[in-house]
Amino acid sequence: MTILDGKKISNDIKNEIAEEVQKMKADGEKVPHLAAVIVGNDGPSMTYVNSKVRACERIGFESTLVQLSYTTSEVELLDTIQELNENDDIDGFIVQLPLPPQINTEKILLAVDANKDVDGFHPTNFGKMALDMSTFIPATPFGILELLNRYKVETKGKHTVVIGRSHIVGRPMSILMGRKGFPGNSTVTLTHSHTKNIQEITKQADIIITALGVPEFLKADMVKEGVVIIDVGITRVPDASKTKGYYITGDVDFENVSKKASYITPVPGGVGPMTIAMLLKNTLLAREKHNRR
Ligand code: GUN
Repeated sequence: MTILDGKKISNDIKNEIAEEVQKMKADGEKVPHLAAVIVGNDGPSMTYVNSKVRACERIGFESTLVQLSYTTSEVELLDTIQELNENDDIDGFIVQLPLPPQINTEKILLAVDANKDVDGFHPTNFGKMALDMSTFIPATPFGILELLNRYKVETKGKHTVVIGRSHIVGRPMSILMGRKGFPGNSTVTLTHSHTKNIQEITKQADIIITALGVPEFLKADMVKEGVVIIDVGITRVPDASKTKGYYITGDVDFENVSKKASYITPVPGGVGPMTIAMLLKNTLLAREKHNRR
C-alpha cells in the first residue's frame, strides 16, 4: 500500500511555483496577486482562507484578504466583486463558500470575471472544463488529478466511483475522470444520497473518490482488494481531550480500508494541502492569462 502524500507533493508544487516567481522577479515582471473574500467568520472557512493567504506569502505571491461581516448584503458583496473584477492589480480571486443565507451563491459566482475565476466555479469555466477546453479546473479536483499524475496511478479503463455530487468536488471529478487523456479514460459512476445499495457499487470500484463529509463512512467491507482511495472528506469531530476541542477525520475508515488499498490518501495530509497548491497554480495561470489580455 502506498500513501498518496499530499503534503509532500503540495510542497514540491509550491517550490516549483516559488521558483517561477523568482524568475518573474528577476525579469522585472509583476508577480501574481490573489485576493480572497470571506463573508462571516465560520471556523473551518477562516482556517482555509488564512492558509491560502499564508501560502501566497510563502511562495512570493501578493495576496489580499477581504473580510466582510456575516450580515453583508448580496448587493454589498456584488460591489466588492465588481471592484476586484476591475482592479487591474489583481490577477485572480476567490469567494470562500459557503455564503450566509441572505446571499444567492449562484448570483455571486456568475458575477466573478471568468478570467479571474481561479476557483473554476463560473459556468463558463465549468463548461469549458466539461468540453476539454483549456481553463481553470477547480482546485480540489485539480489537486486529485495532480496526485494521480505524480504517483502514476493508472486510471485508463478503470471503474471510478465518485461519492457525492457537490459542485466543488463530486460533479467536476465525475467529469474529469471520464475525459480523454491521463488522468482520465475511466468508466465513471457518480453516486449520491439517492443511490441504492451503494456498497454493491463501491465493491466494484477500482478507484473511489469520496467527498461526503460523513466521518468514516467508507468501511473495509465496502471495497475490494487493491482499490485506490481518494478521501476528500474533512470533518471536525468534537473531542474534549484535544487542545483544539476537536480532531479531523475523513470519509474513510483509514485503519481498516488502508489494509486493502493499493493507494490511499490520508486525512489530514492528503487532498487538503493539494487544494491550496493548485489554487496557487491557477493563480499563476491567471497571471499569465492577464499578461496576454
Ligand atoms: N469551500 C470549500 N472548498 C472551497 C473551495 O475550493 N473554494 C471556495 N471558494 N470555497 C470553498
